[in-house]
Amino acid sequence: MRIVSGIQPTGNLHLGNYLGAIRNWVRMQDEHTAQGHECLYFLADLHAISMPHVPADLAANTREMVAALVACGIDPDKSILFNQTQVPAHAEMQWLLNGTARMGWLNRMTQWKDKAGKNREGASVALFTYPVLQAADVLLYQATHVPVGEDQKQHLELARDIAQKFNNDFCDEGAPLFTLPDPIIPPEAARIMSLRDGSGKMSKSDPSDMSRINLTDDADTIMTKIKKAKTDPEPLPSEKAGLEGRPEAANLVGIYAAMAGTSAEVVLADFGGKGFGAFKPALGELLVESLAPINARFVELQQDRAVLDGFLRKGSEKARALAAPTLARTYEALGLVTA
Ligand code: TYM
Repeated sequence: MRIVSGIQPTGNLHLGNYLGAIRNWVRMQDEHTAQGHECLYFLADLHAISMPHVPADLAANTREMVAALVACGIDPDKSILFNQTQVPAHAEMQWLLNGTARMGWLNRMTQWKDKAGKNREGASVALFTYPVLQAADVLLYQATHVPVGEDQKQHLELARDIAQKFNNDFCDEGAPLFTLPDPIIPPEAARIMSLRDGSGKMSKSDPSDMSRINLTDDADTIMTKIKKAKTDPEPLPSEKAGLEGRPEAANLVGIYAAMAGTSAEVVLADFGGKGFGAFKPALGELLVESLAPINARFVELQQDRAVLDGFLRKGSEKARALAAPTLARTYEALGLVTA
């Protein structure tokens, strides 16, 4: 068993990242490293340059994201915490897999279609080949489990397709090189939606800060954002089926359930029949209470850049060692002479 996942350091960690992915990272770290399995968690800084960016911001966001992950419970002594840049095997492996990935597969990626929009000719080549780098990220370490939110499921299916085709094309039968990774997606909170629009996911790139709860928001900001979150005029239903066709209500109930570590059914058993005037303050308080310790730790960790850089240096060294054997076998399988 080997657990691998990544996050782009493109701004604040928000509640969607936390409930959709990072909480699972921490849970898996605590459960599996004790049994001798490795958890590798990385900052996808190479992915972050696929969109226009300001170099100084990327450097600052990278360190900020390290602080945020550690504040959330990622322990650099238990997990291998690093950034892609310090492990060149990621970029090398992407090139090796570019020969196996098909244009048609990449053309079907919904994230490519969404992010490139109508201006495909003007999109970066990196945005198009982004999922091949993501496949490299996990295949490089022979990942078995990849904890992610629902929006990354398609990219992981592509990673499996690339692995399978490579194994077929270049490996002897019965001796595949790459392990096929399984996505681990949480039952509640797999897809946290924007607070302003229940049909769009909560995202770092949404220009409105009111659309998301950042892990760095203070108590007043969280209460205001929840109070102003879009809803409908109906009271909450007492059964989950009653949330159908009510995306904003479903989202807030899902957030409550995920944060409280329970299910939507249990939340509705408590709040069914009540209006948002009662539900929103309860949700706001739950969030404030749960996020306050993370926020305090984050502020403290951010004080010391040398410590944050030290975490990445240490993690990268371990990651380079784990990546080396699979990378060497990949060169060899392709007939590339390395010595
Ligand atoms: P990124 O940086 O957009 O998001 C990091 C993680 O947070 C999850 N997530 C969400 N979950 C639920 N609701 C939301 N609104 C929400 N928004 C984000 C994402 O699913 C993800 O798990 N391409 C990846 C980074 C990556 C990666 C990888 C992940 C690069 N290589 C290899 C896994 C394995 C990304 O941009 O995630």
